[in-house]
Amino acid sequence: MSIQDGSVNDLILMDKNYLHRIQLRKEIMKNHPEHVIAAEAVAKSAVNEFYTWLLGIYLPTRYPRMFQSKSIKGRVLYLHNISTNENLPLIPPENPLDSLQILGGLVDEDFLFLLPSDDGDGYTLKAFVTCFPNGFDTLKKLNLKLRDIHKPVPHYKEKLEKSMDRYFDKMKVGKFMRRANWAIQPNEQLFKVAGNHLYEGDNIPEEEFDINRMRLRVERQYLHRLPQSRALLFSFKTLLYTLPEIKNEGLAEDLVEAINGLRQGNAPGFHFYKRAAVWGEFVKAYLRS
Ligand code: HEM
Repeated sequence: MSIQDGSVNDLILMDKNYLHRIQLRKEIMKNHPEHVIAAEAVAKSAVNEFYTWLLGIYLPTRYPRMFQSKSIKGRVLYLHNISTNENLPLIPPENPLDSLQILGGLVDEDFLFLLPSDDGDGYTLKAFVTCFPNGFDTLKKLNLKLRDIHKPVPHYKEKLEKSMDRYFDKMKVGKFMRRANWAIQPNEQLFKVAGNHLYEGDNIPEEEFDINRMRLRVERQYLHRLPQSRALLFSFKTLLYTLPEIKNEGLAEDLVEAINGLRQGNAPGFHFYKRAAVWGEFVKAYLRS
């Protein structure tokens, strides 16, 4: 599963792109609301629990120069976002969709809430705010179990399903797990409901690429259990790098190795799924030039 222990300190990351990303996230939520935000009624307590903790405790403690709790007549009522000059209610709105919208425009992380499935077997996606999906439509994943969400992922059933189900069941409150995922895409588009993967039956398309427009897309993923609702929260931050940046950082050979690795080992289907048959040779030739 390629997972490592993470730290609560790194659950939410801030960087110099914060304001630009927040603006973009708000535009995407406005233009594609049905694809980026959804919540079943059953997820309301999990959404409220995370909202209350993030705005009331985490952000003003972890990033006190960006976020401050504000009192009115001696009662702490708002979180003040200094960068955007917004006051956000510390008590979550009545409708969880509104809470998710606030979360989506507050930090540059996407959030997916999973609850134990009704039949007691595994976990099911019940709410999300996902402005930057890596080539999938999150709405189509709502109410699916983890194993059905991952149906298009090659070798998932035989290599990942059992260990992931076990791992998710055992996940303890206070533990933070992290992993990374990567893709190569033709441009810097962050809201991508399709196009970063090939699925069974797809033909390998011919595409023209421009090295300066292509991006290495890296997702820094976290998973942790909320203490009260016991929901699992899957969150990720998306980073984009140009290929010249990778080369200048001295990482060209590492990326070539990762691309070659998609064909080798016990999961060769990833070469097709990640579209490496389309861009692989072109990118490798550049990295080695
Ligand atoms: C230990 C935890 C997890 C592991 C090891 C894992 C593994 C993977 C892998 C290997 C892929 C293929 C990615 C690629 O090569 O581009 C993938 C895709 C994906 N994962 Fe996970 N995943 C985990 C947790 C989750 C969770 C909690 C969700 C929440 C909903 C999730 C949602 C997805 C989605 C939507 C895709 C794209 C599937 C598609 O092509 O439609 N994953 N995952």
